[in-house]
Amino acid sequence: MSRVLVPADLPDGALDPLVDAGHEVTRLGGDEPLLDAMARTDALVCLLTDRIDRAVLAAGAGRLRVVATVAAGYDNIDVEAAAELGITVCTTPGILDESTAELALALALMARRRTSDAEAALRAGRWDGWAIDGFLGHDVGGATMGVVGWGRIGQALGRRAAALGMDVIHTARRPTGADGFVADLDTLLAMADVVSLHVPLTPATRHLVTADRLRAMKPTAVLVNTSRGAVVDEAALADALHAGTIFGAGLDVYADEPTVHPRLLTAPGAVLLPHIGSATVATRAAMARAATTAVADVLAGRPTPAAVTTPKGSPP
Ligand code: DGY
Repeated sequence: MSRVLVPADLPDGALDPLVDAGHEVTRLGGDEPLLDAMARTDALVCLLTDRIDRAVLAAGAGRLRVVATVAAGYDNIDVEAAAELGITVCTTPGILDESTAELALALALMARRRTSDAEAALRAGRWDGWAIDGFLGHDVGGATMGVVGWGRIGQALGRRAAALGMDVIHTARRPTGADGFVADLDTLLAMADVVSLHVPLTPATRHLVTADRLRAMKPTAVLVNTSRGAVVDEAALADALHAGTIFGAGLDVYADEPTVHPRLLTAPGAVLLPHIGSATVATRAAMARAATTAVADVLAGRPTPAAVTTPKGSPP
């Protein structure tokens, strides 16, 4: 039997894989600080809001075998330290793709049609009735969807955009062999009416969207981000929206969550959601169960496709 630390509020049924395997499950969030608890822990299930840095991992070193995050992204975990310390890191791949793509599409539609500005005006009593030039946006049908990152979520968005009659182009680190591949980001930015970001946050993608790149976008284009906030230079994006050099942005993620850049909060054309890309009942339940299943697999010595890093020296 192993001791597994889990977040306090996982959905019903999420702990079954651990309980069925006979593990002792302890919920985080009690009186014991995480750092103290780590020393007596074989496995940790965490959330993307938990910072699992070298100090946390080192506190568990020697006993801790696996950290599984209830998320696809794992930029909150020091994977290098984990590998060095012999700790496997797992994520929830392939589970939230459709839900996140749906939200990216919703943001694209909302930003193109400026629904947040229109709704805010209505709620504030600033709507004087139908007007021929009231709240004009841009159609999505017939427009070009530019997907940055052609992984599972990017492709799920591409399918949805095509179904709406959009031309879909995409870029990725390597040629994809798929229709619509554009070799470089700057070309895509100049072509797309919607630019949607689907890359992980890494040192290479931090501030991938710079002021220069925002300038390369069409003045009628919108930027959609459901990946990680720091992929975009938020100050530069706020400037672009306030100056009107792009039409809008649909954002679900922010560099310093839950703080939102103050100039984004006041930016015209900005649709702002609180990181709900995967927030459906079914998807969150499946993500939590996938994380606990991955932990049970690692503790049982079974291979798991959920592992993104394995201890140094062990087979991938
Ligand atoms: C993830 O899993 O990385 C998402 O951001 C969660 O919504």
